[in-house]
Amino acid sequence: MTEHWNPASWRARPAKHIPTDYPDLAELSRVETQLRKMPPLVFAGEARRLKGLLGDVAAGKAFLLQGGDCAESFKEFAADNIRDTFRLILQMAVVLTFAGGKPIVKVGRMAGQFGKPRSSPVETIGGVELPSYRGDNINGMDFTSESRTPDPQRLIQAYGQSSSTLNLLRAFAGGGYADLYNIHRWTLGFVNDSPQGARYRELSEKISEALTFMAAIGVTPETHPEMHRVEFFTSHEGLLLGYEEAMTRVDSTSGEWYDTSAHLLWIGERTRQLDGAHIEFFRGIKNPIGVKVGPTLEADELNRLIDVLNPKAEPGRLTLYGRFGHDKIADRLPGLLRATKGRSVVWATDPMHGNTLTAANGYKTRPFDRILSEVKSFVQIAESEGVHPGGVHLEMTGQNVTECLGGARALSEGDLADRYHTHCDPRLNGEQALELAFLVAEKLKEERLEAALRAAI
Ligand code: PEP
Ligand code: CO
Repeated sequence: MTEHWNPASWRARPAKHIPTDYPDLAELSRVETQLRKMPPLVFAGEARRLKGLLGDVAAGKAFLLQGGDCAESFKEFAADNIRDTFRLILQMAVVLTFAGGKPIVKVGRMAGQFGKPRSSPVETIGGVELPSYRGDNINGMDFTSESRTPDPQRLIQAYGQSSSTLNLLRAFAGGGYADLYNIHRWTLGFVNDSPQGARYRELSEKISEALTFMAAIGVTPETHPEMHRVEFFTSHEGLLLGYEEAMTRVDSTSGEWYDTSAHLLWIGERTRQLDGAHIEFFRGIKNPIGVKVGPTLEADELNRLIDVLNPKAEPGRLTLYGRFGHDKIADRLPGLLRATKGRSVVWATDPMHGNTLTAANGYKTRPFDRILSEVKSFVQIAESEGVHPGGVHLEMTGQNVTECLGGARALSEGDLADRYHTHCDPRLNGEQALELAFLVAEKLKEERLEAALRAAI
């Protein structure tokens, strides 16, 4: 691993989940050459800024909220969808800031989250076997041979969609849409409509009081223009290394390599082999990066991953996303937390990917209660191990879909068929995600009060 790195050095390593069955590999190369000339989507300075903020998370001074679609798609691409997920993240952030007493670092799983690792390379329906759907930047979801054939032009379309998405996100974040008072007004609407609204009312009223107080002492968006704006970052799984390589450029300020396809990229649970292509690529880019940590990863191997990915123990460089499952986290997390103490990593939880099941009617789903349970266990275990519970990573959408079970509206298996739109894994809908924020906020507040009590004894 100490050999010279360059953006293409991953090509000499075994690569999992990167398709090689393009009918015309020369066309793929031509597309990659074309992408190399496209403007960067993000600037290195922005990625450094995010790394600094994640350094605050590593130091226990802030909290990461990351979320968006499991897989973005060409079909669901619409301004309203982008707006609604953006707005949802901001609403959740306000609730969590208030309860946790810490700033929230806001990162969308957006503007580039297309490629998916799949558990099986093929799918069989009615005796017909075709390649699995692998994300809109590779092939199509329709169950036809034509649609399932990888098409390099999809990479260009995904780049274009990412660029438009990011452009809109930048406009929303800086153009007044993200006004703190607006955000809270939307949340009050949710509390009024929710069947469990009474449970959330107390916290939302306290936020209202805090805003009224601030206005009374002259802290308003008019006097403090920063209240009109938010800092918002993008992220995706860095799966398709050909695309990531093409987007990797030398930053003229620092002379270092940055992957300009997103501010933060992460390595999935299925592609984090120490000698594999993904670890090789990621070790050389200077962006803040993440790694998913599942229930089979042992402490030794995790420490070796950290040695390679964050050799200088830079705070904010590396975020670990535990994704164990509600029933495994208590067994797996404590040892890993102990083994990584003092290594300057951020520990966050992805409570989605260890809690997926198939309903009797065939829908892939996730029960809200299990998602909540894994987040609560994460907070509890981290606190008791003396590690900052740094954040949550969620698959969610601002749309009113019916993909995860439960929540205040008690979605049942029979409801799943109503609005099941995901292109891959089931997402929390807008109400479920905001509910989760309120319930996690309760937990954070509880932990904060207990910590204050311990400090006072
Ligand atoms: C994902 O985040 O969509 C994903 C595939 O997760 P994991 O790598 O943790 O399975
Ligand atoms: Co997923």
